[in-house]
Amino acid sequence: MVKVKYLGHACFLLEDAGKAIIVDPFLTGNPAAAVKPEDVKPDLILVTHGHGDHIGDALLLSKRLNVPVYTTFELSVKLEADGAKAVGGNHGGTHDFGFAKVTITWAVHSSSYGDRLDAAGNPCGFVIRFGSKTFYHAGDTDVFYDMKMIGDRFSPDVAMLPIGGFYTMDVDGALLALDYLKPKVVIPMHYNTFPAIKADPGYYKKQAESRSGVRCLVMKPGDTVEV
Ligand code: NI
Ligand code: MN
Repeated sequence: MVKVKYLGHACFLLEDAGKAIIVDPFLTGNPAAAVKPEDVKPDLILVTHGHGDHIGDALLLSKRLNVPVYTTFELSVKLEADGAKAVGGNHGGTHDFGFAKVTITWAVHSSSYGDRLDAAGNPCGFVIRFGSKTFYHAGDTDVFYDMKMIGDRFSPDVAMLPIGGFYTMDVDGALLALDYLKPKVVIPMHYNTFPAIKADPGYYKKQAESRSGVRCLVMKPGDTVEV
């Protein structure tokens, strides 16, 4: 069983066998954050893209804990220049961290670095094989047909999908994504942190479970489930 802790917005902490992976560690300045950056001790940091609500405390955590940040190449170079320990991959590539194998997937979105929106390559999602489970964290994205390929190729046990709309797919898009990905469990994310991304996770759960037989876990920031 892998412990999945939702830390708010798109941030998850996955824990198994004494190892921890944090995805999109937006904690400082996140109105929905469940913990402070000093409360987490990940062994690996995954960042889907450079927008502030995803890169968050990645630099701070990497420096403080001396742990790697895995992301797309261009963003990894920016992070490394600012003092992080970074591993830069790209779409389709897999990196084996020993306790986890992580594949970078496509995402239909944009990316940038810092307040001046410096170019930072393309955004991504991640397929994370960790503790006998396969997770798909979509990052910020619209629904796209190639999610079918991700579903066929990796058979994700758990999918974390944005439902908030405005910057990403909305509830309807995230329902369609289930047809392509066919996960056993879906966890909605990236909603209700800010007024622009208001969504009803209860409605999503009801529709998702009646449409595809998936189990939908609606988590409040700070909630932990075992999968
Ligand atoms: Ni974004
Ligand atoms: Mn975002």
